[in-house]
Amino acid sequence: MTPSDVKATLSFSDGSASMDLPIYKGTIGPDVIDIRKLYAQTGKFTYDPGFLSTSSCNSTITYIDGDKGELLYRGYPIEQLAVNCDYLDTCYLLLYGDLPNESQRQDFHARVTNHTMVNEQMQFFLRGFRRDAHPMAIMTGLVGALSAFYHDSTDINNPQHREIAAIRLIAKMPTLVAMAYKYSAGQPYMYPKNDLSYAGNFMRMMFATPCEDYKVNPVIERALDRIFILHADHEQNASTSTVRLCGSSGTNPFAAIAAGVACLWGPAHGGANEACLNMLEEIQANGGVAKVGEFMEKVKDKNSGVKLMGFGHRVYKNYDPRAKLMRETCHEVLNELGLQNDPLFKLAMELEKIALEDDYFVARKLYPNVDFYSGIVQRAIGIPVQLFTAIFALARTVGWIAQLNEMIADPEYKIGRPRQLYVGAAQRDVKPLSER
Ligand code: ACO
Repeated sequence: MTPSDVKATLSFSDGSASMDLPIYKGTIGPDVIDIRKLYAQTGKFTYDPGFLSTSSCNSTITYIDGDKGELLYRGYPIEQLAVNCDYLDTCYLLLYGDLPNESQRQDFHARVTNHTMVNEQMQFFLRGFRRDAHPMAIMTGLVGALSAFYHDSTDINNPQHREIAAIRLIAKMPTLVAMAYKYSAGQPYMYPKNDLSYAGNFMRMMFATPCEDYKVNPVIERALDRIFILHADHEQNASTSTVRLCGSSGTNPFAAIAAGVACLWGPAHGGANEACLNMLEEIQANGGVAKVGEFMEKVKDKNSGVKLMGFGHRVYKNYDPRAKLMRETCHEVLNELGLQNDPLFKLAMELEKIALEDDYFVARKLYPNVDFYSGIVQRAIGIPVQLFTAIFALARTVGWIAQLNEMIADPEYKIGRPRQLYVGAAQRDVKPLSER
């Protein structure tokens, strides 16, 4: 971290001694005020629920400028990565800091491909779930269960263990998500086929059966690969912070990633694409495009509790650059599959149009987020809505691992332990039952 010449001075209106706080500069982005000695020197904590003004770490992985609508992985703009690289190149970049050259690329692809199968025993573990279990409930269980199968990669303090855990997780996530799907559909699992691409292999494991093979459509393969690239990392969001916090206790990488999967499930985070499609289906069932105006009135009414799912973002107060790329992919896929006139997709485009012009959304800088379009693409491809968040988890796994490994390798890393402002009862005595 580069110290700034400027210092912040914290002073108090009751005359207590003021305190100088160091300021650090990042490569780009806002400076940070270092408050690590605040409690020791003043006996006070900071208060920042939701972490609106708090940097929890320093990181070299991902940079977001929410006002400009900019996203960089290791310095490279997402727009360039989405066009020039595939998902495994992006994984290499996030994990190791730079894009691979030809031999590094071949080696990395081969290493990931060698680990796509999961221990055969995982099938029996999966059988314990109800057939109608939510795929994210299954994924939380399956990812955590990996630590019971791969004992040689559970020591988070051992760099070799971290490396092999990273490769295993990236390689096995598509297999696990496809198994969760096949289980719910009552179909036999399909083993990975390692001469296919990462995205192509996933699609085949999803849609082939032992009696009928699946021919990978290159437009759809590329679309899925793009979904994976765009969701690969997003700096210190809720699930990534969960992974860091969980991993900070020294737990094994599979357990830490399982915590990330659990956090991602929520509708304000990774569950948004599922929530968005459910919303579209509900509007469709209640009258479709003709009822969009009425629905929008509800969204704008604060008492209704209705939100336009797939719109808005905590960080982006401009068009999410991932949404722009996904919008392009969305149109390509709908054209390829001849679905431009599908009523649900027409409804989505109508909602997008209204929201982009409506004062309520314009004034609050609420733009469609990546999940709005990725949900539409996934539905068009034939992926069940309930599986959307699991696919997000598949893609984000590399980001979680890169962030976790960065934290563990940081000499300043400590177990994460936020403090609180206690506003409960002051100390009091337990009264006998008859007097309570
Ligand atoms: N629909 C209607 N109004 C909205 C929406 C929305 N989707 N999002 C925000 N607003 C309104 C809020 O009511 C608030 O209005 P006010 O100023 O009149 O009170 C204003 O816009 C600012 O919103 P905040 O809640 O302060 O924004 P915040 O940054 O806390 O929330 C969030 C961001 C959670 C993503 C929110 O926009 C939301 O719930 N969106 C829908 C869910 C969604 O799509 N989530 C995906 C996030 S992207 C991802 O995880 C990959």
